[in-house]
Amino acid sequence: ITAEKAGFDHFMLKEIHEQPKAYRDTMMGRISEDGKSITLKEIGMTAEQIRGIQKVHIVACGTAYHAGLVGKTIIEQLARIPVETDVASEYRYRNPIITEDTLVIVVSQSGETADTLAALREAKRNGARVMAITNVVGSSVAREADDVITTWAGPEIAVASTKAYTSQLIAFYLVGLYFAQTLGTRDEQYIGEVTTALLQLPEQVEALLEQAPVLKLIADSIVKHNSLFFIGRGLDFAVAQEGSLKLKEISYIHSEAYAAGELKHGTLALVEDGTPVIALVTQEELAEKTLSNIKEVKARGAHVLGVTNHSNHEEVAKSVDEVFSIPNTLALLTPALSVVPLQLLSYYASLALGHDVDKPRNLAKSVTVE
Ligand code: G6P
Repeated sequence: ITAEKAGFDHFMLKEIHEQPKAYRDTMMGRISEDGKSITLKEIGMTAEQIRGIQKVHIVACGTAYHAGLVGKTIIEQLARIPVETDVASEYRYRNPIITEDTLVIVVSQSGETADTLAALREAKRNGARVMAITNVVGSSVAREADDVITTWAGPEIAVASTKAYTSQLIAFYLVGLYFAQTLGTRDEQYIGEVTTALLQLPEQVEALLEQAPVLKLIADSIVKHNSLFFIGRGLDFAVAQEGSLKLKEISYIHSEAYAAGELKHGTLALVEDGTPVIALVTQEELAEKTLSNIKEVKARGAHVLGVTNHSNHEEVAKSVDEVFSIPNTLALLTPALSVVPLQLLSYYASLALGHDVDKPRNLAKSVTVE
């Protein structure tokens, strides 16, 4: 079957627009009618086995690794189980401490990435239980894992991953909530609050997509520079890393993502007059701290785009040159919204530079060599 672009200029743009559907499809049948509980029939673990998990290792490559960075916070916050996230090409060479009480979660859109598959096998050899979050039913990773959570994003053609990443986030929210309800770390009311917010995400993404023209304008100004920075704290830092990767992949503009507070320990030296800095400020508790980091870069001449939420809009607008707001949601869920403007920014930057958006140079959709 030939995949169609359905009226979009590129697969990437089509896939960005398919995210509301991907979120809905990934949640479908997994949240109870009353919103107070999560059903994940795919998880074969008994309550006792879940209670026995001492730690979680999340292992993946590229964009899936970035989903795993968010996954760490989700599982730690909801289920209070310690989590480490590793890139698969490093994991098995660092002699990780894997025991029978370790749950290893591998994340892979294709389910065929060589390093991820090797990490899965290493985990199993050491007696760990392996859960896979993958977009391809019947893929190698899906076949070899003990439990498989399928992301229902549908086929992703563009090399730069968009809807697969956000569907992986949705899968992590569901797994985190499922563990929380099993372990009793969160009560029904709280789980209900999170599921209500989750179910609102698709419409909120739709609203965000309507603001694409603003991002096109910002992208047109960014492409004049050959280097830029993404900064953020907490979950904003995790999303910053994905935003930076997306931009590099398809626009070939050098960028780095920095934990905002770490800037002054070195990278600040690179900020010059006009250097674009994209600052994510969606985490209420950390906003004040990030705002002071924004002042540091502004003082060195940086041109700052603030990505925040509606409730912080006014406050952030005072400190930045341009501001883009996402709809309000729970702090834990913001990555599922804040990444969308960054995807669009990368798309328009690549377009403005005349690159092959869907097939960037030197990159492959699925890397089956180590
Ligand atoms: C390649 C792709 C990336 C992807 C990574 C991991 O580098 O270009 O978009 O994130 O592989 O792929 P996987 O299929 O394991 O998620």
